[in-house]
Amino acid sequence: MKYQSQKVAYWYILAALALFGIQVAGGLLAGWVYVSPNFLSELLPFNVIRMIHTNALIVWLLLGFFAAAYFLVPEEAEREIWSPKLAYLQLVILLVGTLGAVGSYLVGIHGGREFLEQPLWVKFGILVAALIFLLNVSMTVLSGKRTAITNVLLMGLWLLSLLWVFAFINPDNLSLDKMYWWFVVHLWVEATWELVMAAILAFLLLKLTGVDREVVEKWLYVIVATALFSGILGTGHHFYWIGLPGYWQWVGSIFSTFEVIPFFLMMSFAFVMVWKGRKTHPNKAALLWSLGSSTVAFFGAGVWGFLHTLHGVNFYSHGTQITAAHGHLAFYGAYVALNLAVFSYAMPMLRQREPYNQVLNMASFWLMTGGMAFMTFVLTFAGTIQTHMQRVVGDYYMDVQDSLSVFYLMRFGAGAAVVIGALLFIYSMLVVRRKEVITPGPANPVPGE
Ligand code: HEM
Ligand code: HEM
Ligand SMILES: [Fe+2]
Repeated sequence: MKYQSQKVAYWYILAALALFGIQVAGGLLAGWVYVSPNFLSELLPFNVIRMIHTNALIVWLLLGFFAAAYFLVPEEAEREIWSPKLAYLQLVILLVGTLGAVGSYLVGIHGGREFLEQPLWVKFGILVAALIFLLNVSMTVLSGKRTAITNVLLMGLWLLSLLWVFAFINPDNLSLDKMYWWFVVHLWVEATWELVMAAILAFLLLKLTGVDREVVEKWLYVIVATALFSGILGTGHHFYWIGLPGYWQWVGSIFSTFEVIPFFLMMSFAFVMVWKGRKTHPNKAALLWSLGSSTVAFFGAGVWGFLHTLHGVNFYSHGTQITAAHGHLAFYGAYVALNLAVFSYAMPMLRQREPYNQVLNMASFWLMTGGMAFMTFVLTFAGTIQTHMQRVVGDYYMDVQDSLSVFYLMRFGAGAAVVIGALLFIYSMLVVRRKEVITPGPANPVPGE
């Protein structure tokens, strides 16, 4: 850690980790309701648990992006953050908004639009926090050194904040309502967040592999170009059945197929950098999460996304467990694992705990990634059977659900592994242990001497 103000990132990471814990615990609870449908149905209905699960996910991922920005921008720009005070104010606004949203969900107040259920004042608070953030990082970058990494990061963060404005537009016409809704939901994860991901991945690989900056930048530009080229019109894969013109079936199918490319490139980027890199950085855990993130993102977003993106397939699979399988692996690989890579890289420095013992952290990677992979497989099986019974044969929804119960039980098991992995990760971050360094001497002779 070179700059004092990077410490801001520490508090963002702590807040993110707390919400991460709540998010996966909420998921496990929702998974149990699938096994035992009346569980807590009076006290904490499924829709409320689900809102807490998905909203906590989005908010902690954003907190993680802010942490990453506050950590890497000073190093890239070679100066302190423009105003650490504003950064803390931004965090307080976000935390008050989060508590406000959770509180209102618990008493049953919400906007009803999936992922955008927050009460209006919370949405407004998020907007204000985003503006404070943009001002702060933009001033830092403008008055310091500009690099391709900060340019791409800022472009992603500016665009995603602007898209948030569509969260306020909620027309009565259901087709238009859905269209604007996807402007936020899809153009976040399949366009602007991808830019953020590429920039953060580039920063981590630069530090962890010691490869030349020019090489990293070339990859970054190609990834950004392919992500925007495919991702914007790729939104069409959500316009098939919501009452928009029929040509979207072809535009969506074709452009969303191209969306596989940037994810493939990000995976290749990570492995090629490790292969070409001249440095072996001691933080192996951060490298494991970086490689894992880009690989699982390729499978979760790229492969599992392509699985149901062609309109002829989506006609049958739309809104089944196939969608849930894809949603889980894509979010986990691309954004959860990436954030955990940043935390693994930054935390030991922020707490001055180097050299750092990474055993627990790496164990949590395998437990969580294994759990998510297993959950994806069982949901894909469930979704395939569901698609056939419900959409091809025409059985009733609830009858089909009854015959899927064994998969929901296995999903719960997989989810439990993920939760244990997440707790292990959080523990390894809160209690960062130093690696024991054995210095050769009379008590520890070098072997062979
Ligand atoms: C970091 C890991 C996780 C991520 C990124 C994640 C992400 C998501 C997302 C994006 C959704 C909305 C899916 C959609 O609309 O298709 C969702 C719903 C859900 N998640 Fe998770 N989740 C995670 C962990 C878990 C765990 C551990 C469980 C436990 C079993 C779980 C169970 C559920 C359930 C039951 C739903 C509701 C599905 C429905 O409405 O049918 N999730 N999750
Ligand atoms: C990291 C990137 C991605 C994330 C986080 C993600 C996440 C999600 C989530 C949560 C949903 C469910 C939305 C809902 O109905 O509530 C969804 C739907 C969908 N995604 Fe993705 N996705 C990503 C990338 C992709 C890519 C690259 C493709 C195509 C190649 C794709 C194709 C689809 C399709 C076709 C649907 C609609 C499914 C349906 O009709 O029910 N996604 N995605
Ligand atoms: Fe999409």
